[in-house]
Amino acid sequence: MRRNAPVIAIDGPSGVGKGTVTQTLARMLGWHRLDSGALYRALAIAAASRNIALDDEAALANVAAVLDVVFDERAGQERIVLDGVDVTVEIRQESTGDQASKVAVWPAVRRALVDRQHAFRQPPGLIADGRDMGTVIFPDAELKIFLTASPDARAQRRHGQLAAQGRHAILADLCLEIEGRDRRDQTRATAPLVPAEDALTIDTTLLSPEAVMAEVTGLLKARGLR
Ligand code: DC
Repeated sequence: MRRNAPVIAIDGPSGVGKGTVTQTLARMLGWHRLDSGALYRALAIAAASRNIALDDEAALANVAAVLDVVFDERAGQERIVLDGVDVTVEIRQESTGDQASKVAVWPAVRRALVDRQHAFRQPPGLIADGRDMGTVIFPDAELKIFLTASPDARAQRRHGQLAAQGRHAILADLCLEIEGRDRRDQTRATAPLVPAEDALTIDTTLLSPEAVMAEVTGLLKARGLR
């Protein structure tokens, strides 16, 4: 039987730098990339445009099963197209992240997105970014990394990113939002945000992005993945 393509799972809470690590690794290794959070975010936008309530599990699952979302990467620039409309900017908004966390609590929604996530597992390999990559979606991943950082540090980083885009946010509000989203993601009954038993945790609170990448590439080398 053909062996599945290898997977590196990058899990952790919001704003911890998973996206940067995932993109850097995918580029470095020439592997595919799955941004699973973007699927839940796209579903939240699709639900809003169809006037589906965030607690209507059955209707949300139906939309999830046929979600028309395309990830288009050209010249290092990613474009996300939902129902034929470019949602690249909207999908990254804080409010979309919060709504994504709300649709993601429903077991039927999560089930509806499993096959789509598995389909990203193609040779030569996949870097998968999310909350349950190592625990539920790819439990046989070659390497599972769980990134953490204090809510304060994550709010500071997000504040800096928004400022760089010329957008103002109140730091204390960002911190509250992050803590609220963490609580929801960690306490839901299905696929909660927890490190897999065999995950290696990196606390990035006091680390620069370069230092995080140095730790991650060290782990890859130790596993013979680089
Ligand atoms: O990683 P992100 O911020 O784009 O994710 C948005 C929300 O989607 C997150 O708060 C919870 C949900 N999510 C999830 O439940 N499982 C995943 N694998 C990825 C994201």
